[in-house]
Order: sequence, then structure tokens, then C-alpha cells
Amino acid sequence: MAREFTRVGVVGLGTMGAGIVEVFARNGIDVVAVEISEAALERGRVTMTGSTDRAVAKGKLAEADRDALLARVDFQVGLDALHSVDLVVEAVPEHLDLKQRIFAELDKVCKPETILATNTSSLSVTEISVATTRPNQVIGIHFFNPAPVMKLVEVVRTVVTSPDVVADVEALCERLGKVDVTISDRAGFIANALLFGYLNHAVSMVEARYATREDIDAAMKLGCGLPMGPLALMDLIGLDTAYEILDTMYRRGGRDRRHAPVPLIKQMVTAGLLGRKSGRGFYTYERPGSPVVVPDDQTPVTSQSALADGARGIAKVGVVGSGTMATGIIEVFAKAGYEVVSVTRGAEKSAKVFEAVKTSLNKGVVRGKLSEVDRDAALGRINWSATLEHLADVDLVVEAVVEELSVKKALFASLDEICKPGVVLATTTSSLPVIDVAMATQRPADVVGLHFFNPAPIMPLVEVVQTIRTSAETTATAKAVCAALGKTGVICGDRSGFIVNALLFPYLNDAVKMLEASYSTADDIDYAMKLGCGYPMGPFELLDVVGLDVSLAIQRELYLELREPGFAPAPLLEHLVTAGYLGRKSGRGFRDHTRR
Ligand SMILES: NC(=O)c1ccc[n+]([C@@H]2O[C@H](COP(=O)([O-])OP(=O)(O)OC[C@H]3O[C@@H](n4cnc5c(N)ncnc54)[C@H](O)[C@@H]3O)[C@@H](O)[C@H]2O)c1
Repeated sequence: MAREFTRVGVVGLGTMGAGIVEVFARNGIDVVAVEISEAALERGRVTMTGSTDRAVAKGKLAEADRDALLARVDFQVGLDALHSVDLVVEAVPEHLDLKQRIFAELDKVCKPETILATNTSSLSVTEISVATTRPNQVIGIHFFNPAPVMKLVEVVRTVVTSPDVVADVEALCERLGKVDVTISDRAGFIANALLFGYLNHAVSMVEARYATREDIDAAMKLGCGLPMGPLALMDLIGLDTAYEILDTMYRRGGRDRRHAPVPLIKQMVTAGLLGRKSGRGFYTYERPGSPVVVPDDQTPVTSQSALADGARGIAKVGVVGSGTMATGIIEVFAKAGYEVVSVTRGAEKSAKVFEAVKTSLNKGVVRGKLSEVDRDAALGRINWSATLEHLADVDLVVEAVVEELSVKKALFASLDEICKPGVVLATTTSSLPVIDVAMATQRPADVVGLHFFNPAPIMPLVEVVQTIRTSAETTATAKAVCAALGKTGVICGDRSGFIVNALLFPYLNDAVKMLEASYSTADDIDYAMKLGCGYPMGPFELLDVVGLDVSLAIQRELYLELREPGFAPAPLLEHLVTAGYLGRKSGRGFRDHTRR
């Protein structure tokens, strides 16, 4: 007979606990919500009522339902109040000794049949379970933040958890409207094992002043469609909690340096900058617990005019190349009102690009996003040429030719001879060092990276890559151009992968390693990232779209430049590429696309 869960307990009403109480109470289950002191209890109550009030204000919860929900919660100090519950979910800070102490006490207080669950993110559920006399009734129920919103629950069974306990908890998750993935007890489970290396890496970028917090967050949101950037997410998780999770994952997960908490995190925790819960973390919030970011001394000041920042005026733009990126970039500039000189390697190529730009603009007309007049005007602004000499009087050149350093260097050397002084010379390279290209000219201060994303007319992000020789004026010009194109330009240093690829591909590679280790399935890993972290696609879906060969090449570059052992390409990824399984484009990658 399956267990009925009519009354459950939640221990610890912090970031997670308060949300977990809400999840149960929303689904008609009575909750005994326990804290360590009256003050902490009051804080938990305020967090919970704040969350339910917001749901009412947004029209997601009726007032009567909110009142019924709150009436189901019995707020108490001390574990003794849990004597009659059927299940306890513990959500106290991420310290093994604390959790073990609480479990030992719960074991004494609770009914013999009560299931004891931990919401730990990284600690060993097995080690927690042995503090009780009923390790077979101990399980991990790992909710995601914010618990009322995120659909995923990771159910963690240890080697001794009874199968009926697992089955009953899975059924409970379903009743709560959650999707569960059941996995074994490994540091970070699925989602955090893939997430925290990425978060830590993003913090290291801030620490190294590689890019600003705003630019890193904007890059991941706009470049990858993530619901929030990594630093905003660190603030949501809580820096103290994130520190403990990283520290545990480092020790339990094979001492991968990428999980060694970046020193800045510890400093911020020591300084009381814990994120949203303390009102300040990477960002500053209206007040503790508030999601509203307010300006602080790090908030970038945007001057009224780009020229005030030292940006040069740009009216005429040259685009060199005839591939996918060049075609998209020509369209973007022409649509934004710039006069464009497209240079390809011959009339035939130019005709092809012209057709592609026209077709794309026509799609805009069909969809009602562009008038016929504007389409014709955009096309009329483009001059087609097969000689670089026609770039003599442009103000900006964007190079988007084949990704080969020798070709790009030769091109930049030619541009150096042809272009007038003061021109900004930009490369769209996604993997080559911009400084190499810059040094092929006599004017490296005028050379910058403008890394557009594919498809350029749609993707809102451009990475502005400044080398150690790029002048502030050149960077300001590049940034102003991005704004004029309606795109967000994020500024970063000249390192392999810039911001987006450097943060994205190691995560994808880690997912492949997790699959390779048979920890979980491609479907469950995809679910975990989509439902637990709000990613628009799971890692295997994305790898199949990007192409396994492209992904492998990027990962190799990162590994070669940064020499980080954890960045070594997953052998499974290499094998799939060798076997010709390249993703959608070849019909098969991690999934078979021929049968869909
Ligand atoms: N923050 C996240 O995004 C997240 C996501 C999933 C899981 N988790 C996990 O959830 C757990 C809680 O993390 P958090 O971020 O909510 O921490 P938190 O610091 O926000 O909250 C912990 C709460 O536990 C209370 N507490 C401490 N000792 C207690 C005791 N003896 N009895 C009762 N209550 C006690 C504290 O007063 C505090 O309110 C951790 O194991 C963490 O790894 C966190």
C-alpha cells in the first residue's frame, strides 16, 4: 500500500524551505514549518507571505486560495512539533554535521514510518542517512529555486533507500505537479553538477575583471536564452549556500579545480554580501529578500550620447565575406540605415548574398515586420563589390570570412593599406585571437572583435572583444554601433570563447561526460536543465542543433588555450564526431533525427 502524505514537516524556512512549504500547502497538504528561533520563524513567514502575495498580485493565485494555503501551515520553533508528520523535508544550511545532527534528532522525534528527506544540493544523502536508525527511509528530495516555480525535483536514492520509499516519493512529486528524475547519490546530482562549474567560472570572470557583472549576465541571457545570468543566479541561490555547494562538490567530486570556490565568493560571504537574502551580493537590492535590483556604485553610467564616450561617427560600413554570418550582418546594417559596401570574392558570390539578403528581408515583409518601402530602401543601401579597394572610404569594416588565421591576417594587412585613417576594423571571429589579426595591421588600436551570433538579424547579442591594444575610442565606437543596430554589445577581453562560448561549452562537455559515466540518460539530463534551471533547451538538444563537430572544435580551443584539465573534450563527443554523428545536420547526433 502506498503511503498517504497528509501532513508533512519542513525544517528551515530560508531561501528553499519557505518555497517548499508553499509547494506542499498549495497542493492541499498540511505543513508543520519549523525554524530554530522565533526570529527565524518570523523571517520564514514573511518570505512565504511575500511570495504568495506576489502570486495573488500577478493573478496566479486567488485570494481565497492564498488564505486556505496559509491556514494549512503551522509555524513552530523546534523539531518536537514534527512528531506526527508523514514526511519531513530538511532545508537547513549546507553543512554535513548540522544536517546529521538534525536527522539524528528527527529519527527520535518522528513516527517510525516517517520518511526523512533532505533538500541538500551537494552533500551525501548516504552520509546524512547513517545518522538515523532508518537509513532505508532516508531520501533526497532536491527542489529547485524558486521551489513554487521550478518544475523539477531530483529524487536521490542511496544504496539503502527502500524501493517503496522511492516510489511513494515519486508519486508525491507528481501530486505536487513536479517532474522528477530519480538518480543515485553523487555530488551535485544532475543539475548542480552541470551548473556550478559554470557559475564559478562566471564569478572568476568578474574577479579577473574580464567583463562586468552586467555584461556577463546579459551575454548568457541574450546569447543562450537563459532566464537569468549566472551572477544574478548566484545572488538568488545565496552566496553562502553556493560556497558550501562548490566546496562540497570540489571535495566529493574528484577535486575538479573548476569547483574550487573562487576566492571572491568567500570574501563576499565573509563581508555579509550573501545575495538577495541579505540585500546585496553581486548586485544591490531594494531591501533584503527583494528581487528588485537598485543602482549602486558599479552600475554603468550611460551617457546621453555615444559621442560623449569618445565614439566615432559611423555612416558607411564595409562587410567582407559571403557566408551565413556576412549575409546576416549585411542585412542588419542595411536595415539599421547604414550605407553598406559588401565585398565578396566575385560577382557570382555577390549575387548569392544579394538573393539571401532579399529572401530574408522578404520574410520580414510577409510577417508584417518590415514594410516593402523599408525593404527596398535597405536593399538600395547595399553596394555590391568584388574588390577591397571599394572600402577606401568606409568608416567601419566588419570582416566575416572563413575562420582561418592566415586568411584573416592577410585580409587585415590589405585593409590596412586600403582604408582611410581612423576606420574601425572589426573581425567576427568566434575562436581566433583578435590580437593576432590586429597585429597584421599598423593600427592595432583601431582593431576590435565584433562577435555576432547566428542568425545575426535575430540574435540580440554582440560580444565586443577588446585586445590589449584596442583603444577606448574604438571600443566605444563598437559599442555605440551595436546600440544603433538595436543589439546589446557586451565588452570582454580577448580570450578563447569570449564570454558566451567559454561559459557554455564546458557545461555541454560536462553533460556529455555525465552521460558517458552512465549517471543518467540524455532525456533526464535535458529535463533537469530545462525544468530545474529554466534553460530553453537541454544540453543534448543544443549539441545536436549546434553540431557536435563545431562543439568539439570550440571545446578543443578552450582546452588548448586555458589548459584546464576539466575542459578536455569528452571522449564520447570525439567518438561521435569520428563516427559522423554530427547532430541534426547529419541526421544523427545524440538523438536520431531521421525518424522524427
Ligand atoms: N539556495 C538554493 O538555490 C538551493 C536550491 C536547492 C537546494 N538548496 C539546499 O537547500 C538547503 C537550504 O539552503 P537555503 O539556501 O535555503 O539556506 P538558507 O540559509 O537560506 O536557509 C536555511 C534556514 O535554515 C534555518 N536553520 C538553521 N539551523 C536550523 C535548525 N537547527 N532547525 C531549524 N532551522 C534551522 C535557518 O534559520 C535558515 O532560515 C541546503 O541544503 C541547500 O544546499 C538550496
